Amino acid sequence: MCAKAWPRCANAAHPNTPEVVLLLLDFHSAGLARAWASVCVLAGVFMANVHAAPSDMAERTRACTHCHGEQGKAGPDGYYPRLAGKPAGYLYNQLQNFKQRRRHYDLMTHLIDPLSDDYLRDMAMYFSSLKVPYPPAALTSAGMAPEVLLRGKTLVTQGDARLGLPACSSCHGHTLTGVQPNVPGLVGLPLDYLNSQLGAWQSGQRQAHAPDCMAQVVKRLSPADLMAVTHYLARQTPAGVGAPLSEEVHRSLVAKQDTAWRCGSAAGVSAEKAKP
Ligand code: HEC
Ligand code: HEC
Repeated sequence: MCAKAWPRCANAAHPNTPEVVLLLLDFHSAGLARAWASVCVLAGVFMANVHAAPSDMAERTRACTHCHGEQGKAGPDGYYPRLAGKPAGYLYNQLQNFKQRRRHYDLMTHLIDPLSDDYLRDMAMYFSSLKVPYPPAALTSAGMAPEVLLRGKTLVTQGDARLGLPACSSCHGHTLTGVQPNVPGLVGLPLDYLNSQLGAWQSGQRQAHAPDCMAQVVKRLSPADLMAVTHYLARQTPAGVGAPLSEEVHRSLVAKQDTAWRCGSAAGVSAEKAKP
């Protein structure tokens, strides 16, 4: 069935081309949000350590964009995250996190398990290089209690010394569009995605390289504060293509702050010191 739908991949499986790996995912799942009755995802992926031209990469990452949207600009329903324009180091770390089971999504993990680190890096750099504008935030302030959004904004931009919580912006950048090379942006993400990621850190389902700053951050967030933060963030639209800040610019803005929080996945970025 899949070979019929994707003859190009069937050709790629020819025994004379051993460097090509054919990955075949044929999944029938009523649980998928998009309620696909049957979906075939095929990827003919070259394992050779070549640095593919962007046009090749578009072709080779077709299995990825099947879920992550054209040019990696996210699936339609908030479930499949955007990849376009995110910092390359962050994307690469996530591919490693799935491979090494610090994050869990089996359909994707099967796809990347056989790929070399160089290939994962090439894909991360490719998606990072795509400058695709963000759509406006899907949510508006209408119907949302202003005090909830204000609490969210305060935590995001100033933190809460009483809780020992640094401002989210002290690591994710004052524009909240992330910091090169390893810290992702927080704006342009759907509410469901934000809630599920922070919830996954709270339950230990998602982890980052140790020390895992986000595991410490979510420990300090009550359910009400977590909701305030995600509701505030999901209502912000990043300017332009939402480009991440350079590390130099970010550092010059947070230089006054103490540097007690070091993140294993973002060695160059540290937050203001947490008060006891
Ligand atoms: C079957 C659908 C599917 C396919 C195919 C797929 N992904 Fe994913 N991917 C997901 C989902 C769902 C998540 C979010 C999982 C979670 O909640 O942690 C994800 C997360 C990611 C992330 C982390 C994004 C972030 O902002 O943290 C990266 C990077 C990624 N995928 C890259 C890829 C690449 C590269 C490919 C192709 C080799 C690929 N994905 C193929 C469904 C898919
Ligand atoms: C001390 C630095 C630090 C602080 C403070 C911080 N973060 Fe993070 N955050 C990180 C790092 C580093 C990552 C990337 C982790 C990884 O590689 O998986 C991250 C990742 C995330 C992600 C995952 C994004 C995605 O695309 O999947 C979310 C959501 C997030 N942070 C939300 C927050 C919120 C909300 C706050 C404030 C309440 C906050 N962070 C404060 C360092 C920080």
